[in-house]
Amino acid sequence: MLERNTIHCGDTFNLLKEVKDASIDLIVCDGPYGVTEAPWDKIPSIQEFNLALIKGFAPKLKEGGALYLFGKPDCIDFIDYRQFLNLRSKIVWYQPSRLAQGRINYTNNYDIICYFIKGKKPQRYNLDAIRVAQLVELAHRLRCENVPSVTNGKFGKTKYNPKGKNPGDVWGDIKQLTYKSKELVCREALNTLQKPEKLIERIVLASSSPGDLVLDPFAGVGTCPIVCKRHQRDFIGFEIEPNFVKAGNERMRKCDDERNSA
Ligand SMILES: C[S@@+](CC[C@H](N)C(=O)[O-])C[C@H]1O[C@@H](n2cnc3c(N)ncnc32)[C@H](O)[C@@H]1O
Repeated sequence: MLERNTIHCGDTFNLLKEVKDASIDLIVCDGPYGVTEAPWDKIPSIQEFNLALIKGFAPKLKEGGALYLFGKPDCIDFIDYRQFLNLRSKIVWYQPSRLAQGRINYTNNYDIICYFIKGKKPQRYNLDAIRVAQLVELAHRLRCENVPSVTNGKFGKTKYNPKGKNPGDVWGDIKQLTYKSKELVCREALNTLQKPEKLIERIVLASSSPGDLVLDPFAGVGTCPIVCKRHQRDFIGFEIEPNFVKAGNERMRKCDDERNSA
């Protein structure tokens, strides 16, 4: 049995065999994108790679458990994942500040995060934990709620909620890290696409609850493990690069020290 709350060093496909079936509540899969020069990112077909992951992850999830799979816009094109998991949303992680230097094409300035669940109904969707501020003023919103197309339409029941609104499926409010970001673990982690804690936090808060078990099969420098620790989720991490495992564990130790001294 794999120890919980540890980043295990090794290959995800091997380590996954040691995970008990139907034991995982949430999988946060920020693996290869197949677009960089990093040796681990050189994947002949990212779609086939992702299909193999989806197939491997499905039995490990509990009924209603969730998988969030990160990638470029075409990362699950032309593969049939439907026999394994149900795709609920393709979240666009929009980064308007990405340099728009394309000359013969439209520059891609978003990633997608494919949100799958096992079965028909999500085990968790903690909307109140991830609400975002309403950008329109209340008076305007209330006026809109009373127009006939809203009151008679199928979205008629969406009412103004002072606690905030559903973040929707285009997330433009969370910026990718830069070399100036305080949370960047090291310069090299920028090249391996270390993710902002806020981004992973939204996923962990929405699709798990305290005490749940989260699997991070490509842990990098430990962003998801840190978020899990902070929010009392258990986790199992896998990472093939020993230096990242070390950096991730160091980061977790610091997080513990900060908590203990607070
Ligand atoms: C996109 S990065 C993950 C970044 C992570 N979310 C973070 O914020 O630090 C992908 C990671 O997967 C690791 N990796 C790639 N192939 C792997 C494999 N087959 N098994 C385990 N880890 C792998 C890479 O070393 C890299 O650190």
